[in-house]
Amino acid sequence: MATKVQSTEREQWSHQTGFILAAIGSAVGLGNIWRFPGVAYEGGGGAFLVPYLIALLTAGIPILFLDYAIGHRFRGAAPLAFRRMKKWTEPLGWFQIMLSFVIAVYYAAVIAWSMSYFVFSFDMEYADDPKGFFLGEYLQVGEPEISTSIVAGVAIPLVLVWVAVLVILGLGVAGGVQRVNVIGIPLLLVAFIALVIRALTLPGATDGLNELFTPDWEALSDPDVWIAAYSQIFFSLSIAFGIMITYASYQKRKANMTSSGLVVAFANSSFEILAGIAVFSTLGFLAFERGVGVGELEGLTGPILSFVTFPAVLAQMPAGSLWGAVFFGALVIAGFTSLISILLGVSASLQEKLGVSRRAAAVGVAAVCGTISVALFSTTSGLLALDTVDQWANNIGVVTSAILMAIIVIWIIRKGDELRFHLNSVSTFKVGRIWILLLGVLAPIYLSYMLIERIITLISDGYEQLPTWYLVVFGWGTIAFTVIAAFVLTALPWRNSTERFTPWPQLRHDDVKTALAGPPQSADGSTNGEIK
Ligand code: ALA
Repeated sequence: MATKVQSTEREQWSHQTGFILAAIGSAVGLGNIWRFPGVAYEGGGGAFLVPYLIALLTAGIPILFLDYAIGHRFRGAAPLAFRRMKKWTEPLGWFQIMLSFVIAVYYAAVIAWSMSYFVFSFDMEYADDPKGFFLGEYLQVGEPEISTSIVAGVAIPLVLVWVAVLVILGLGVAGGVQRVNVIGIPLLLVAFIALVIRALTLPGATDGLNELFTPDWEALSDPDVWIAAYSQIFFSLSIAFGIMITYASYQKRKANMTSSGLVVAFANSSFEILAGIAVFSTLGFLAFERGVGVGELEGLTGPILSFVTFPAVLAQMPAGSLWGAVFFGALVIAGFTSLISILLGVSASLQEKLGVSRRAAAVGVAAVCGTISVALFSTTSGLLALDTVDQWANNIGVVTSAILMAIIVIWIIRKGDELRFHLNSVSTFKVGRIWILLLGVLAPIYLSYMLIERIITLISDGYEQLPTWYLVVFGWGTIAFTVIAAFVLTALPWRNSTERFTPWPQLRHDDVKTALAGPPQSADGSTNGEIK
């Protein structure tokens, strides 16, 4: 049976600002607000900024550029882009997309909680007993088991999240995703600045900041702290799980990739550090009100920080109801703009492989992911499952994906120079040889060391005292699922031919030499290759 030729008509961001806002929207998410403050606190407070910044510079930005280069040059979501780069690498693309799939199904649940808490803030329903309310009345948390009892209070907002996903993905890249970000990101910025100013002017704020930023240098000798920093950076920058490859594939051919990457990376870290400042200043206030040290407060990490400890602060703050609505509203916006990016990768991959329309792919993704999301994460065992899947998908899955991508691209298929040539041909900020060195040598060595260390710890010590069968199903099972699904999806036939594709700019010896050397060839920074 003859296959159709893959269409060259590709949706596009309508302008560079649209792309940058969408990429910031993807990066700034629950990871910044819900994960970072707790991870930083556990990882040595102020000392955590050392592995965090090292992770940003040695792996975060280099892998962000790698994602951009692959997506922009080979113009596809991860499976198609990898396949066009080298046919046999397609499973790596699907592995990344499957990690996105897994992350999306639990990520949506946290957005649903935030939506509920946005509503609860109006009459401060959580104020009397924030812990009892979150774990008992709201989530109805039970034993670690595979529960089938759905909690309506979580399921209803969760279904709404999936309906919104369906609409936005159905509207497409410029009409849906870009529009949500163009509205959402400025709103988020205003909400964030208001929150930070309010937090810093509360009594006790300095104690909270001291608690967050006082360095515990000993933490730096613990490999788990380093792996937490790298995983945080990967999750937070939305790299190594297919998202940025997909986003870059919708950029115009002539687009300044590295400069926008730097804007996105620094905007993301600024949001992250601001979130840490806002959350810990308010915790300082709570400690002050209770007459205890900040370190004596319970629940300074994980979901408990946002949904138990933070509500406890709001209950005591003047105009707590308003600030609660601002905080949880910000979580919803930040989370939703990231969720859309995670799922755009999934839906674009299916669209390209199965040759279905954008709308059909959106319906399929929302229906399948939505059903799994509701079935697993709106039940009484949802919180435990979420925490376990998050741990494995990020600390094992995404880190493994980053290592494989770096080794395969730089060492096995040797595309480092071509990708560097690509970035330097279209961008004003030129990437030096150090980029290849970081990706090809440093990243695989230290990431592999940390990954092995983490795997040994998880096997020998388990996780959060959960039963072994539970970790096998929800932890290791998650990884096994992503790997098996990656090979199954690779084995499916492509509805459209992927063969007739010429990357642009074309690699010609002189172009390569000039582009790798640095300066742009023409006033607009473009090469003289033809746009296909
Ligand atoms: N980058 C997104 C976040 O930080 C996934 O939440």
